[in-house]
Amino acid sequence: MKVIIEALTIKRGSKIVISNLSASMEGPGLYQVIGPNGSGKTTLMLTILGVIKPTSGSIRVELNNRNHNGPIFSYMPQSYSIPKDAPITVYEFVKGYYELSKPWPRFLHRDISVDEKIRRALELVNIPKSMWMEQLRNLSGGMLQRVFLARTLVIDAPMILLDEPLSNIDPDGKVDIAELLGELSRGKLIITTSHDPILLLDYTKKILLLGYGFHAYGDVNEILKYEILSKFYKKCAVELDKHVHIVDWH
Ligand SMILES: Nc1ncnc2c1ncn2[C@@H]1O[C@H](COP(=O)(O)OP(=O)(O)OP(=O)(O)O)[C@@H](O)[C@H]1O
Ligand SMILES: [Mg+2]
Repeated sequence: MKVIIEALTIKRGSKIVISNLSASMEGPGLYQVIGPNGSGKTTLMLTILGVIKPTSGSIRVELNNRNHNGPIFSYMPQSYSIPKDAPITVYEFVKGYYELSKPWPRFLHRDISVDEKIRRALELVNIPKSMWMEQLRNLSGGMLQRVFLARTLVIDAPMILLDEPLSNIDPDGKVDIAELLGELSRGKLIITTSHDPILLLDYTKKILLLGYGFHAYGDVNEILKYEILSKFYKKCAVELDKHVHIVDWH
């Protein structure tokens, strides 16, 4: 699975968000998209998904297996708006996304292993069984974030796009989820945005750093350097002895 971005420029309204970006991301592997608020991370995700049309340039997606059957992407948005009183359980929420991914007419694609797939996705992100039939409105922010991730992982797609999957999750949970994503990236192309690239560093193939029309793309060591980060994060890039840290105001 490969995403080839060529001379991509994206405007939102009259503002140029991404300018002349070229990058190639090849799976299996994990790629991080980082950058300050408003730098275009979500915009890039939506453009890869085909929701936003590039102003110029192109994004091409190539499959390794041309006979691949089923969804190519699974996507976790940065935020969901779920009505506070929506009567939907954790289990139903995950199942709903799975059902939607099936080709039309859905009743012809009855899948006897659906419950097994939902169970596996919920277990992968460590949601206790006692919560599976809980109403979404009763969950804490961090647990809800895990449900969103389970919902994304229930679909076995070769490419997974995750918009800030680690936000709201407590420190121990972040390490668990980071390990899970690292493990999954052995078999899939994972593109994830984040405000804290460190947790996923061991699993990261390349980092794309966005910053209001500018960008830098390269190996971890090429991007996580004070000279580069300070251009994009200004005073929030702090050099601590030999280590560079991004202060997260998000
Ligand atoms: N629907 C929209 N219409 C017009 N401009 C938009 C729209 N959505 C986002 N923008 C603008 O596009 C730019 C990039 O926004 P985007 O949401 O992609 O940034 P981001 O890097 O994901 O930020 P964050 O870290 O806050 O999630 C911002 O200037 C934002 O104001
Ligand atoms: Mg965003």
